[in-house]
Amino acid sequence: MQKPLDTARLTRLADRFGTPLWCYDAAVIRERIAALRSFDHIRFAQKACSNTHLLRLMREEGVVVDAVSPGEIARALAAGYSSRGGRDEIVFTADLATEETLDVVVREEIPMNAGSIDMLRQLGERAPGHRVWLRINPGFGHGHSNKTNTGGEHSKHGIWHTDLPAALAVIAQYDLHLVGLHMHIGSGVDYGHLQQVCGAMVQLVKDSGQDIEAISAGGGLSIPYRENDAQIDTAHYFGLWDAARKEVEAHLGHTVKLEIEPGRYLVAESGLLLSRVRASKDAGRNHFVLVDAGFSDLMRPSMYGSYHAISILPADGSESGARPLRDTVVAGPLCESGDVFTQGDGGVVQPRSLPAAEVGDLLVLHDTGAYGASMSSNYNSRPLIAEVMIDGDQERLIRRRQTIEELLALEAGL
Ligand code: LLP
Repeated sequence: MQKPLDTARLTRLADRFGTPLWCYDAAVIRERIAALRSFDHIRFAQKACSNTHLLRLMREEGVVVDAVSPGEIARALAAGYSSRGGRDEIVFTADLATEETLDVVVREEIPMNAGSIDMLRQLGERAPGHRVWLRINPGFGHGHSNKTNTGGEHSKHGIWHTDLPAALAVIAQYDLHLVGLHMHIGSGVDYGHLQQVCGAMVQLVKDSGQDIEAISAGGGLSIPYRENDAQIDTAHYFGLWDAARKEVEAHLGHTVKLEIEPGRYLVAESGLLLSRVRASKDAGRNHFVLVDAGFSDLMRPSMYGSYHAISILPADGSESGARPLRDTVVAGPLCESGDVFTQGDGGVVQPRSLPAAEVGDLLVLHDTGAYGASMSSNYNSRPLIAEVMIDGDQERLIRRRQTIEELLALEAGL
């Protein structure tokens, strides 16, 4: 969301569409895309936010897309993407694929970014000649939490680097077409690890003895969740990868495309979660403010201890700055003690100094455009909430609120 917040507009949106509500600002997404234009392809990791309207925006901006399930492939197709005829607009990245998934991948000619040798073999048996990438686990990783570190020997992701020759043998056996090599070592990667991963990529290309068209830097670009966090320097990021690409080009003797595959960076800061304060209470030393959004909507604080900045929009239209500060625990409606938005790494309640909130106020959870709506669930039989896209003066409902009848429909008449 563009800062400072347009509080009158958010109040109008909450009144019109109800709360809790996801809001995205298209302008922020376009800005982030623009900052990555030096890369040959920006491939959006749609797991961060897979609303088809948002994917359409990506497509209009020339961004291609990654998919990790048949559902995500269907979303990409619905948004107008195609991989037919070598267009490669959709790439399927996974460590395993069901028979049904392989059917779709083959039918739609979607290159497979294979994270296991078994997956390559199963594809090869079915579709010799199919385009493939190899996702390599270089033996090290990094992440904002252990759960988002995707490299190293504890990670199930990718083909272990010393297994590259075995993967290449399967590619040769089935005459698969190797497009490129890919690495994604985790989310929230720092520059030190980046240099290491660039070096590993160059070495792998050399060791492979293969001719390839492209390399992929994966995703993992961090965003400033806290006020003092720095915005990533995308020129520096590109510079490191471009140097690696040039080494690869010198080695192969021709040009090589450089892809990047961010999720969070493109959408996190565009989004916020708008909730309404419905109750407050004290429990010993803790002051609780209870809002109508829960971890069934935004899971990140409960899952990773993630920090999201919080703003209060007073119901009477006054400035929140005029309210006294109060140490506050912000919690949701779910029947579970971990349903708390202000918590630390250990999953403990962590009060935050916030303007005193009152019943009826709006409470904003910032930077929730990535891994917000896409990680929501129906826990406690709560319907999925609505999503709205703001684009300049326009405000568009891009997903309506699920109904309780829709929840029950899956079990009806059986
Ligand atoms: N490429 C691959 C192969 C990935 O597995 C991922 C994320 C990305 C790209 C995009 O990573 P990003 O640029 O968004 O960091 N739910 C967690 C993040 C899990 C990421 C899983 N893979 C969170 O809320 O932080």
